Amino acid sequence: MLIPLPWWKGIKGKGKLYLDIKRGAPIITAMEEKEVEVKEPAQEKAPDESPKENLIPVFIMGKRFFVPESFTIITAMEYVGFQFKNAVGCREGFCGACATIYRLEGDYKLRTGLACQTVVEPNMYLAQIPFTPAVKAVYDISKLKPELVSIQRYYPEVFRCVACNSCTKACPQEIEVMDYIQAVKRGDLETAADLSFDCIMCGLCAVRCPAEMVQHNIALLARRLTGRYLLPRSHHLEERLAEQREGSYEKDIEELMGLSRKGLTKRYTERDLDFEVF
Ligand code: SF4
Ligand code: SF4
Ligand code: FES
Repeated sequence: MLIPLPWWKGIKGKGKLYLDIKRGAPIITAMEEKEVEVKEPAQEKAPDESPKENLIPVFIMGKRFFVPESFTIITAMEYVGFQFKNAVGCREGFCGACATIYRLEGDYKLRTGLACQTVVEPNMYLAQIPFTPAVKAVYDISKLKPELVSIQRYYPEVFRCVACNSCTKACPQEIEVMDYIQAVKRGDLETAADLSFDCIMCGLCAVRCPAEMVQHNIALLARRLTGRYLLPRSHHLEERLAEQREGSYEKDIEELMGLSRKGLTKRYTERDLDFEVF
């Protein structure tokens, strides 16, 4: 585990300086392809003068722990010994698996966030949500029409929305959740699909909804209907699918399957990209 440090006297190099807890020594993470030089701290510096990360108290499942103040909720929980063996995903704010609710000291408000993205605060009171119970309708999209009636059939509760905006306030993606639900109610599926595009299905909006709807599943149906019926067809995709059905890539796949890990890595890093990487 690495803790970011300010630069020390006696350490030279280009990049970011961290304390490696396992090794108990400082390391530099190079940001450029330039060789870095790491020197031991000056001899005369006493160990207790070393810069240390401030520890702050947080409450995890009701118990108080002290954790480094710059850690995210997930890394703080691991720091004190919790292990995430499943139901943890990307750690990058994309998968929605780490939905968390918490309160701050002296603040009445129940807050929501992603544990992999939210930095701990002093006396934060934390509770993880293992998952949001949410029944997802089963439908055959090819038999539906891109109309409000399709949503009404599977999610009639959408009309119970009282426009309280609690869902929008809970969303860690800063999505205008109430607005996409209102768009669904108007039958404007394209707007609903557009507004909900960045949804990561974390379920925090559904947890807070007094009308007890599951907004992210409603939005998913709106996006599917939009993609299937309202947006222009992707001819490139259709051509590629036809090529696959004809077996045009079988030989290439067989060749890849026969490669070693090293060979696969080489092919991956040397591949041609036909798009620009930013
Ligand atoms: S819309 Fe709901 S499920 Fe989607 S990211 Fe926002 S809070 Fe999470
Ligand atoms: S939380 Fe539920 S009732 Fe409130 S605005 Fe959002 S969808 Fe509507
Ligand atoms: S672990 Fe994927 S969003 Fe937090």
